[in-house]
Amino acid sequence: MQFYMHYMCNWPEYFKVALGPNNDIMGYLIGKAEGSDQKWHGHVSAVTVAPEYRRLGLATDLMKYLEKVTNELHKAWFVDLFVRSGNAAAIKFYQHLGYSIYRKVLKYYSDNKEDAYGLSLCFCSFVSLLSSLYLSGSQIYTV
Ligand SMILES: CC(C)(COP(=O)(O)OP(=O)(O)OC[C@H]1O[C@@H](n2cnc3c(N)ncnc32)[C@H](O)[C@@H]1OP(=O)(O)O)[C@@H](O)C(=O)NCCC(=O)NCCS
Repeated sequence: MQFYMHYMCNWPEYFKVALGPNNDIMGYLIGKAEGSDQKWHGHVSAVTVAPEYRRLGLATDLMKYLEKVTNELHKAWFVDLFVRSGNAAAIKFYQHLGYSIYRKVLKYYSDNKEDAYGLSLCFCSFVSLLSSLYLSGSQIYTV
């Protein structure tokens, strides 16, 4: 609860809930803006769609909303996020949206010591390359 309150208070523009016809929660998005200078960016902290509403384009809409807020409101350079290395569906989803894997963080998740992939999407191709290289400190690779 503290987690959600922190995000709601600090980045309300990045807190989006999609409600169904009966006011049931179909999905939600939580994010923030962070970094400085060339590293000023939007970050996806969570995007989840209830199983019965998946493959309808809802998460795509939520992500497009986050990208718009990041680009137009915060004038930031890119969006980044972490995803569990075993979450093949989510990795495919993000890649479908144009995100690229730029690094792997070993044992990032404390609950099961699972590795994370860092993914990013930049708003301009030149900055995209620079940011990816800057963030990774190494080569860009794909899965
Ligand atoms: C990942 C998740 C957010 C996708 O939500 P969604 O609303 O179903 O996604 P969309 O309908 O916008 O999917 C857009 C495209 O992404 C890809 N995609 C989405 N889910 C996929 C899956 N399970 N397997 C393969 N590709 C997938 C497809 O290309 C899809 O287009 P298509 O349906 O025309 O083939 C949802 O499965 C989810 O909530 N998972 C559990 C939480 C999670 O893993 N969150 C992300 C990590 S933080």
